Parts: sequence; structure tokens; C-alpha cells
Amino acid sequence: MKPTMPQLQHRIVPSLLSANFGHLARDIKIMQDAGAASVQIDVMDGHFVPNITVGPVVIEWLRKETSIFLDVHLMIENPQDYIGPFAKAGSNLLTVHWEACQDPVSVIREIKKLGVKAGMAIRPKTPADVFTPILKELDYALVMTVEPGFGGQAFMPEMLEKVRTLRKRIDEVSLACELQVDGGINLKTAKEAADAGATSLVAGSAVFGAPDPAQAFRALQKLIQ
Ligand code: DX5
Repeated sequence: MKPTMPQLQHRIVPSLLSANFGHLARDIKIMQDAGAASVQIDVMDGHFVPNITVGPVVIEWLRKETSIFLDVHLMIENPQDYIGPFAKAGSNLLTVHWEACQDPVSVIREIKKLGVKAGMAIRPKTPADVFTPILKELDYALVMTVEPGFGGQAFMPEMLEKVRTLRKRIDEVSLACELQVDGGINLKTAKEAADAGATSLVAGSAVFGAPDPAQAFRALQKLIQ
């Protein structure tokens, strides 16, 4: 008898890239009070992506301010050189990009040795097949639904095929891997992404760009529940 798949939990993950960088701890508290279980922090180095954001020191200070799960998305080159400082700073999840890793499996294992959850992300041009040798080692598989680097971009519906493929692969071998999408998630696209099989949906401008971010978060969360 085919094992019954557990009911998938769908969660919206607010992305702090669109939050007020002068009041990050306050904006995290607003999300936590609204029911968010985690927030994503986008780390950019100006090389892997044409933008620069934060380093481990910011995670360290935020860690002192909040108990929330810190999902840290590393859009940087040579991530293996920085996973130590980001883990030490208090990250709960470190997601590195497949395109930035010479040996993806060893980077994932290094992250896990640091006692942190491990995720792998792919850019829009990268096929889902690159996940095949790594999937069973991952806590999170992230399919970018925009070109990484900036918030407020349009969702790429052509990425949903990758989400469906990965959902099928994860279910076939009943892996405990979260399937995450990131970029252009809003009231129009969230349901499509959840129906395609995503369980973790990162949303930046649709939350923090709204007049009432807490209400916007709750509306998105309700839509995919
Ligand atoms: C983009 C980041 C995303 C971004 C999403 O490179 O990885 O997390 O903040 O923002 P929206 O939801 O506005 O596309």
C-alpha cells in the first residue's frame, strides 16, 4: 500500500529585503506577532548578484533581538568561506546557491556539521536536475522565481514546472525537504506556487510594501493554508 503523504504545511516567509533596514528588529516583531514562524534575510555580495546587503554582524545583532527562525539566503560567491561566521552569528538555516558552489554536497555537509539547517537554491536558468544528487541531504530546496538580486520583480510562471518536478521527486522518496520559492510572490501568484507544490513561500514587497504589513502577511498566509 502506497504510504499516505503527510498533509503539507504551507508557510509564507517574509523577506526582510523589503523591510525598513533602520528598524529590522521592529519589523521582525510585527511579523512574529502576525504569526510568521520565520523571516528570510537576503545576503548579497555585489558579485554573485549586482546588489550588496548585510553580513554576519547584522545577523548577530538581530539574534539578540528575536527568537524567530532566521532563514539566511546567501547570494554570494565562495559561500563555503562564510558559512562558519553566519552559523556562529545565529542563523537557523543557511541556503547557498548551486551556481556558487564548486562542490555543493560538501558545502551542504559543512553547514549541517555547524548544527544549522541546510538549503540549496537555483537561479531561473539552472535546471531542477542539479538537485538530484543533493536532494536527500537538503532541509530546503529553493527555486528562485525571479532573477536574484532585487525585490519587487515580476513572478516567472515558467519556474512552476521546476517546482512540480521537485515536488514529485521529494514525494517519491518521502523526503523531509521543504520546497521553497522566492520572488514575485503575492496575492495572485502565491496559490499557483503552493498548488505546484511549494511549501515555503518567500514574500518581500507584497508584505512590507503594503500599508499594513501584518495584515498583508495574514492575507497571504490564509490564501495558501
Ligand atoms: C531577491 C530575494 C527575494 C526578494 C523577494 O533576490 O532573494 O527574497 O526579497 O522580494 P519580492 O517578494 O518583492 O519579489
